[in-house]
Amino acid sequence: MTRSVIMGTGSYVPEKVLSNADLEKMVNTTDQWIVERTGIRERRVAAPELAASDLSIHACREALAAAGVDAKEIDLIIMTTLTPDSMCPAGACWLQAQIGADRAAAFDMNAACSGFVYGLQAADAYIRSGVMKNVLVVSVDIMTRVVDWSDRSSCVLWGDGAGAIVMGVAENGRRGVIDSQIRSDGTSADMLVIVGGGSRLSPIKAEDAASNAHVLKMRGQETFKTAVRCFTDVCVETLEKNGMTIKDVDVFIPHQANIRIMEAVAKRLGISMDRVVVTIEKYGNMSSATIPVALDEWVREGKVRRGDNVLMAAFGGGLTWGAALVEW
Ligand code: ACO
Repeated sequence: MTRSVIMGTGSYVPEKVLSNADLEKMVNTTDQWIVERTGIRERRVAAPELAASDLSIHACREALAAAGVDAKEIDLIIMTTLTPDSMCPAGACWLQAQIGADRAAAFDMNAACSGFVYGLQAADAYIRSGVMKNVLVVSVDIMTRVVDWSDRSSCVLWGDGAGAIVMGVAENGRRGVIDSQIRSDGTSADMLVIVGGGSRLSPIKAEDAASNAHVLKMRGQETFKTAVRCFTDVCVETLEKNGMTIKDVDVFIPHQANIRIMEAVAKRLGISMDRVVVTIEKYGNMSSATIPVALDEWVREGKVRRGDNVLMAAFGGGLTWGAALVEW
């Protein structure tokens, strides 16, 4: 059976750093609280004139170069984001024009922080079915645009960035995407929500903006507990379905939402933290971008080797969650 393979990775984070010390001047918080409760020391902030496609360009160019694929050979662009350039057209279309992928179909997918795993599964299905050959998946979020800067329990968590992969047909049919599982639970949609900008609250009126309808609202503790359970369950299910255990996993890349969530999941799964990729200290939670940015960094540092089994797992608004298992 045809398998899809990740042929190249790329990532981009904006230059501007927002440190915990900077946040101490903005809200009633401390560096110590943020580090102890979340593991975050700093995050990146996109310049005001930049939109999701602008951040994506750099990540996509890197991924295309690493894959040895020209933009004109791309059949499909999937941008996973909850902060696209515009409601219409899709951020993927703005990006398509900028990278010159003129043969590609392009659309956005919103699965919040789980976007990358959702996007990877869609690309894998397109490729395995023979409908598409080369698919560019870019996961990008500019979370600092939708943060409530007056809510100290939330504003300290988020950052901006983009990560991309080029996927294609595995040549020997062996290495590549082994499996992926995605899940959602809309009954808990209100756990993590941005109402403004959607059709339930459009156009935004002055009073809506004044009541912060356009920013992210999150029930943090509930999200934390649900994330640990869902992360763990979907990883175990994915491994079991493929006759594997956590001992077969060489590299585990969880969505970077909180170091305590990652440690709790690693403990439940029985994997030591030296096999868990952690970038949250530098970037905070970049929503769907966290996994591909972390993957790209480890690939470039030579920490992911040919033949390694890489498990990636995400959890986010929707609720949505999922896991992908890849033989590198
Ligand atoms: N600085 C100082 N004190 C703070 C801060 C802050 N930044 N934020 C909250 N506190 C205070 C609270 O007011 C509370 O004080 P009180 O005891 O006097 O009432 C105390 O710290 C403890 O608050 P908790 O909410 O219990 O803190 P907790 O340890 O749960 O940490 C956090 C909060 C970081 C939000 C955590 O719950 C979390 O990470 N949740 C998961 C969030 C997440 O993963 N979101 C992303 C999901 S992915 C997606 O799709 C977007």
